[in-house]
Amino acid sequence: MAREGDLLVEAMLIDGAWTAARGGDTLEVTDPATGAVVGTIPSGGAAEAEAAIAAAAQAFPAWRRRTADDRANVLEAWHALIVANTAELARIMTAEQGKPLAEATGEIAYAASFVKWFAAEGRRVAGHTIAAPTPDRRILALREPVGVCAAITPWNFPAAMITRKVAPALAAGCTVVVKPSELTPFTALALGKLAQQAGFPAGVLNIVTGLPDGIGGALTASPVVRKLSFTGSTRVGSLLMRQSADTLKRLSLELGGNAPFIVFDDADVDLAVAGAMASKFRNAGQTCVCANRLLVQDGIHDRFVAALGTAVRALKVGDGRTEGVTIGPLINAAATAKVAAHVDDALAHGATIAATPDGVTGDDRFVRPVLLTGATPDMRLASEETFGPVAPIFRFEREEEAVALANATPFGLASYFYTDDLHRAWRVGEALEFGMVGLNTGSIAMEMAPFGGIKASGLGREGGREGIEEYLETKAFHWAGLKGFGA
Ligand code: SIN
Repeated sequence: MAREGDLLVEAMLIDGAWTAARGGDTLEVTDPATGAVVGTIPSGGAAEAEAAIAAAAQAFPAWRRRTADDRANVLEAWHALIVANTAELARIMTAEQGKPLAEATGEIAYAASFVKWFAAEGRRVAGHTIAAPTPDRRILALREPVGVCAAITPWNFPAAMITRKVAPALAAGCTVVVKPSELTPFTALALGKLAQQAGFPAGVLNIVTGLPDGIGGALTASPVVRKLSFTGSTRVGSLLMRQSADTLKRLSLELGGNAPFIVFDDADVDLAVAGAMASKFRNAGQTCVCANRLLVQDGIHDRFVAALGTAVRALKVGDGRTEGVTIGPLINAAATAKVAAHVDDALAHGATIAATPDGVTGDDRFVRPVLLTGATPDMRLASEETFGPVAPIFRFEREEEAVALANATPFGLASYFYTDDLHRAWRVGEALEFGMVGLNTGSIAMEMAPFGGIKASGLGREGGREGIEEYLETKAFHWAGLKGFGA
């Protein structure tokens, strides 16, 4: 079993104590690059989730009574500790998730940015007063924390998806139970350890590890949990929504995507290639916002394919700890099988491999990045999220055709387009039916901007000013019968 420094913990965090599962059951976490065991975690279930909910409920009254500034100071201490421990956190992340060390290091900075941002947003929470119908009445709209919140987080961004949910919740005065992916729990537990060092009181942040069903069932069934935030598939998101119906929880659901990436004839080719590489190949294509369908106009098609092909051939596939590697393993064999099936299906339907790095054959851990030309809407990769390093090019002639193709999906998370025509920029930007639109950029995820989708991509927004709203209720406080103001 590989041992990291002090931050690799093999226990859950419940009520400020590092805890084993009640029956002592454990789960192994394996390194996707090598198959080696990284460590074991407690295999918690409903009982552990209920203990964590009780701890969060117990901690809530005192945490909400603290001043916003006081809570923000603890968040800032957490931010400083995350930044100071970047190298160890990144090594843990690469060991359990597989992404190249440089990307893991970047994710820690990204994760920390949410903590810093929401510490500041927490200080700015403000209600308002309302003109009353009689002289003896005052009406205030007060902002209050939602209460105990649950966060169910995915394996593709083991740190950032936690801080993007937990930081606004804690800043708003909520307490939290986190259920990290059982594939990547160690990054979450390390963040929990740093949160303890930062000074969060016992029960304010709890982390329960184990398989999803028992924990998710307890979190959704509990009337004490007033809000659930989930990042993951649309299938699981709608299941959690159904499970949350009886307790009428507030929900934030960041679900699947099928992002179009449109390159118009008047685009800057170099900019578009850089954006396509960033969007498509980040985390080996395992992101909800990654370009799934590259729609390229006739007049620029060949130049764009040639330039993107050069960049794809330069990708280096391997263990994320090896210097220079840009594409790590996929998370597991099911993920590599799905990518291979999408490529096979595209080839069977007439696509061509235009570029791939030399010497990469692919196996059940690593896949061969490919640039495909001749993609068409009848291929699986046109309608399903590939979640891998496959860039299919769909060729189009007219702007309306591109917009129609882009919108022809039940998903509505991210979209991207490249043009230097300002009239087209407004037309297309407004016509795209997605929660996020990137014009001349492949990067749209950052702490100061709202992140989230419409249609089958979910509900709510994370990050930005909107991110903290998800953890606040509005209370109308009517103060009547004031004396000395007339009838
Ligand atoms: C995701 O893939 O779910 C999140 C991606 C991001 O935050 O950039």
